[in-house]
Formats: sequence, C-alpha cells, structure tokens
Amino acid sequence: MNSRIWRSAHCAARSILSAYSKHSSRAFSGGRAAGAASVVSLRGVASSLALHGSGESANASRTWISGILALPAAAYMIQEKDAHAAEMERTFIAIKPDGVQRGLVSEVISRFERKGFKLVAIKIMVPSKGFAQKHYHDLKDRPFFSGLCDFLSSGPVVAMVWEGEGVIRYGRKLIGATDPQKSEPGTIRGDLAVVVGRNIIHGSDGPETAKDEIGLWFKPDELVRYTSNAEKWIYGDN
Ligand code: RTP
Ligand code: MG
Repeated sequence: MNSRIWRSAHCAARSILSAYSKHSSRAFSGGRAAGAASVVSLRGVASSLALHGSGESANASRTWISGILALPAAAYMIQEKDAHAAEMERTFIAIKPDGVQRGLVSEVISRFERKGFKLVAIKIMVPSKGFAQKHYHDLKDRPFFSGLCDFLSSGPVVAMVWEGEGVIRYGRKLIGATDPQKSEPGTIRGDLAVVVGRNIIHGSDGPETAKDEIGLWFKPDELVRYTSNAEKWIYGDN
C-alpha cells in the first residue's frame, strides 16, 4: 500500500512539476523557487485529500501527508532534471574537413567542454554535395556557394550538438568572426585558422537555424539526454 501511495504521490509531483516547468520562462535558473512552489502545491493537494478521505482512504491520506514532508528534496530533484531537459538550448556545431584533417577535433571539443557546455550528439561523416547544399541553402545566391559546398563534401566532417544556457550565441563567440583575419585571438578561428575559405568550424547562427540544422544532421534518437555530473557546479543562483 505504502509503495502504491508513494508512487501516486511521485506521479502527482511529476505532473505538477512538469506543468510548472512548461509555464516557467526561466525554469532553468529558477530551479529552487520552482521546487518550493511545487511543494506548496503538493501540500494543497494533501490537505484536500485529508479533508475528503475516510476509513482506509483517510489513513492513506495521512500516510500521503507524512510522505509529503519528505517530498521537497525529491520534488526539487525531479523539477531540476525536467527543467534542464525541457528548457536547455542546443546548437549545431560542425568541424569542417580542414579542421578534421589538421587534427583539431579534440581542440574544438575541448573549448566547448571547458566552457561548460554539454555534448549531446556527435558523429563523423562525409556529406554529399547535395547535403552540403541543403546545409548552406541560405547562401545559394552567393558566388562562393558551389565552392563552399564542394569543400564541405570533400572529406570527413565531425557533426555535433552542444547544449547549454546561451550556447547558440556564445558558441558563435567561441568560434569567432567568419573571416579568421578578423577573428579575435582567443577564438577558435582567431587562434587556429587564417583564411575565410578554410575557417575549420561551423556554428548555427540563431535558434531557428539551430533547430533546422540539428534536424538535418541528426535523427531525434541520436540526441542523448543525460545529466552531467558537472551541471550542479556550472549552473546555480546565489
Ligand atoms: P558558418 O555558417 O560556416 O558557421 O560560417 P559563418 O556563419 O561565420 O559565415 P556564413 O556567412 O554563414 O558563411 C558560411 C561559410 O562560407 C564561407 N565563406 N566564404 N569567400 C567568401 O567570401 C566567403 N564568405 C563566407 C566560409 O567558410 C563561411 O564559414
Ligand atoms: Mg553561417
């Protein structure tokens, strides 16, 4: 009986927390506040159960209520996990054939990793020219379009999805300006590339592009959902 009650309490907690996450625009950084709000909601549910129950159901409600006192920590944990999974931003990053051939894969990964972003998908492939044209379709009227697509499909590309707060915009900062001559030192292109036609890396330039590019390069089940052990040291409010 106890375990059934606990399971239903757990389910109720999940529903409330998931509803809260969907309506919270800052679910990620508001984790503790959200956890507290959820516990208040759960106490409301417990009181109404206690008022309406009788006999076995009243006993069940009492067990439920005593269990509810143990819920804050569990609720907080569930909420945190769901909030991270539901709200976290993702971007598409590709190491182009020049970056792969020059042995810069680990260097690029390391810069995103050390920043605190989380790798959720990775694969190596040689894209066809048609695939490259789809990827760079917004540049189809530019004079360098054909050469750019020839180059992207000329060798192995390491395709990745990175996740984290602000990863689309900050990923572009880590990468640097399109033309390595204009990229700041300290950026990937600034430190590791010299000319615009061999700038070693691609990064999505906005939320819509990120969504489209992730959808082009990866199937949904190739994206891995997991909690990184480092997350609690990377994110948090004081
Ligand atoms: P990417 O899409 O590769 O991340 O680069 P980006 O946003 O910084 O620049 P974008 O304008 O999207 O250009 C895509 C790629 O085209 C090549 N390019 N060549 N010859 C040229 O003047 C020229 N301009 C751009 C670069 O490889 C650039 O990354
Ligand atoms: Mg671009």
